[in-house]
Amino acid sequence: MRVTGTPLTVSGTIRAPGDKSISHRALIFAAMASGATRIRGILPSADVRATAGALRAMGARIPALSDDFVVHGQGVQSLHSPEATLDCANSGTTARLLAGLVAGLAGRSARFEGDASLSRRPMRRVADPLSAMGAHVTFMGAAGHDGLPMQVDGAALHGIRYVNAQASAQVKSALLLAGLTSGVAVTVDEPLRSRDHSERMLLARGVALAMTSEGVTLPAGQVVQPADVIVPSDPSSAAFFVALAALADAGQLRLENVCLNPTRTGAFDVLQRMGAVLHVEDECDVGGERIGTLVVHPSTLRGTHINGAEIPRCIDELPMIACLAACAEGETRITDAQELRVKESDRIRGVVENLRALGAEIEELSDGMRIVGSRTPLAGHVVTHGDHRLAMAFGVLGALPGNQITIDDPGCVAVSYPTFWRDLSQSVGPVAPSMASAPASVAPSITGSSPLVIAIDGPAASGKSSTAQWVAKLLDVRHVDSGAFYRAITFLAVESGEVPESWTAASVLAHSGRVAWRLTERSVLPLVDGQDQDEALRGAAVTRHVSRVAAMALVRAWVNEQVRSAGAAVDVVVDGRDIGTAVFPTAQLKVFLVADSWERARRRLLQRLGRRPTEAEIATETEALVARDAQDATQSAPAHDAVTIDTTTVTQEEQVERIVALARATRQRLGR
Ligand code: S3P
Repeated sequence: MRVTGTPLTVSGTIRAPGDKSISHRALIFAAMASGATRIRGILPSADVRATAGALRAMGARIPALSDDFVVHGQGVQSLHSPEATLDCANSGTTARLLAGLVAGLAGRSARFEGDASLSRRPMRRVADPLSAMGAHVTFMGAAGHDGLPMQVDGAALHGIRYVNAQASAQVKSALLLAGLTSGVAVTVDEPLRSRDHSERMLLARGVALAMTSEGVTLPAGQVVQPADVIVPSDPSSAAFFVALAALADAGQLRLENVCLNPTRTGAFDVLQRMGAVLHVEDECDVGGERIGTLVVHPSTLRGTHINGAEIPRCIDELPMIACLAACAEGETRITDAQELRVKESDRIRGVVENLRALGAEIEELSDGMRIVGSRTPLAGHVVTHGDHRLAMAFGVLGALPGNQITIDDPGCVAVSYPTFWRDLSQSVGPVAPSMASAPASVAPSITGSSPLVIAIDGPAASGKSSTAQWVAKLLDVRHVDSGAFYRAITFLAVESGEVPESWTAASVLAHSGRVAWRLTERSVLPLVDGQDQDEALRGAAVTRHVSRVAAMALVRAWVNEQVRSAGAAVDVVVDGRDIGTAVFPTAQLKVFLVADSWERARRRLLQRLGRRPTEAEIATETEALVARDAQDATQSAPAHDAVTIDTTTVTQEEQVERIVALARATRQRLGR
C-alpha cells in the first residue's frame, strides 16, 4: 500500500500485557474484600503501580506486582486515611476511582495529586456527583482549577441516581465505589454505554447489581467478596498490533488472550469496516470476560466515519485509528469524540499536529478530525506530550518501511505497555543479517572457523557488563562495548550542531561512515574519524541524548552490524539485551543472567540507603525496577539455547567462574 520502502512482513504471536482497566479494579476490589484474592496476569505498568501504591498507603497489604500474587484483603473498613498525599502519577483511573472509594469512607480523607498531565484533567465530573452524595471534595490548586490536587473527605453518604453524560467508566465506577463503601444505593444511567468491567467484577464478587439497557443499579448494603482474577490482555494494547498487521504487506500476526468485552472492541469493528482482515479463534470466557485470539492479515484499507455510540467503545484506540487512516484510501471522519481532548493529552490536537508535521492531510474538528489518506511516506519528529498512546500509534507508523519517524519520549509507553517496543521489533522480524565487512583495522580471525562469540544478556542491574569484562579477561578474548557505538554516533550528531529535536535515524546515520573500530588488547571500541574519543563519548551532551538515539530502530540495526562484524573477525564476549537472540543467534555460548527482582531491588536499596530497606521500600523499588527493565526497547527473553544463571544467591566471582567453565567446555567441544 505504500509506494516506497521494502515490503513489510509481520509474523509471530503477541500476548499483549494485562488489561489496564481490569488490573486497577482487581487491586481495588481485592483490597476491599475480606479474604484472599489471587491475581494473575496483572499489567505491571506505571498506572497500575500508582493504584497499588495508593492502596498500600491506605493500609492495604498489596505485595510487589508480579505475574501471580495474592492480596489478603481485610475489608473495606480497614482502609485508613493515608499519611501522605496519594500520588496518582499519570493515571486518571487511579484518581477518579479512589476518590469514589474514599468519599464513602466516613471519617477518612485523602489528598490526590498527579503529574502535570493528570493535573490538567477534569475532576469535577467525579467531584460533583460525589459531593451530591454528601462527600466533601475540595480542589486545592489555583482558583477556578477543577483538577488535581484535590482533597476528598469521606462521609456517610446518601444514594444517587446520576446520568453519565460523558459515557465515562471512571465516573460510573467512582459512584459505584462510593455506594459500596458507604452502603447506599446508586443508579447510573448511561445514554451511551461505557466499559463495564466494574459491573462484571462486582457481580463475580457477590454484589447484587442490576444491569439494564438504561445503565446499572447498585442496591444498598452490598459487600464485596474476594474472587480470584485472571487478567486478559488489553484490547487497547493489542489494537496497535492489529493496526500494524493490517498496514503490513505480507504475513500475519496472532494476538492471543485478548479481552473481547463488547464495550471494548469498537476499534476492531472499525478496522474491519476499513477493510482489515481479522478473525477470532479460541473464544472462551475467563472470569466473567470474553477472551480470544485475534488473527490479522494485511489488506487494503479505506476511510470510514466513526461517531456516536461507537466512540466510547474505541475511545483509547482513536489515535491509532487516525494514524492508520492517514495510510488508508479516502477520507476518515471521527466526530462526537470531544472526550479525546481531556485524555492524557489533548489527543485531537496531538494527533492532528503530529500527523500534519509528518506530511499527512488532516483537519482538526472541535469534536474529532478529518483525515485524507495517502500513499506518501511520512517523515519527521513526533511530540508525544508524554502520552503513551500517541507514542505507540506513531511507533507503529514508524515501523512501516519508507516512513522516517522519530519519537520524543518513547519511554512513556511504560504507562500502559512497558514492553511495547520489544513486541514491535519482534513482530516486524529481525533486522536483515549484516553484509558489512570488517574495517581494515581489524585483524582477521586467527582460526579457520568462525570466531568464538560468547553472548551475555540480562536485565538492568544484573551485573552483566562487569561480568562480561571479567570473563573476557580470564579467557583472553575481547569484550565488545556495544554501548560505546551508540555514544559514538550520538557524539557525531551532537557535534553536527543540528538541533536534537530534529534528529532522525537518517540524519544521525549520515555520520556512520566516520565511525570505525579499534582493537585494544582487551576490547573492541569505536574510533571516530580515526581518533580515540573515549573521554568525549562520556560527555554530558552525549549522555543526555544517547537513549533517544538508541531508541531509533535503524540506529540499533547499524550498531548491531558493527557488533556483528566485530564478532565475525575476532573471538569476543558481548553483553547486552538481545545479543544471543537478535545480534548473534548463532553464538556458540549464550548466557542469560537473571536475578530475582526483589533481591536486585534489595541490593540496590542497601547500597543507596546504607541500611536495611523495609519491605514496603523493596516492594516499591521492585516494581520500578520491573517497569524499567520492561521499558527497554531491546530487552528480550533468553535465547532458547541460552544457559540461564540466577545470580540471586551467587557472588559475581562465582558467576564469572561458571561462565568461564562453560566457555572452556565450549572451546573443547569445538576443538579450539
Ligand atoms: C477507563 C475508562 C476510560 C478510558 C481509560 C480507562 C477505565 O476513561 O479512556 O483509559 O479504566 O475506567 P473515561 O472513563 O474517562 O472515559
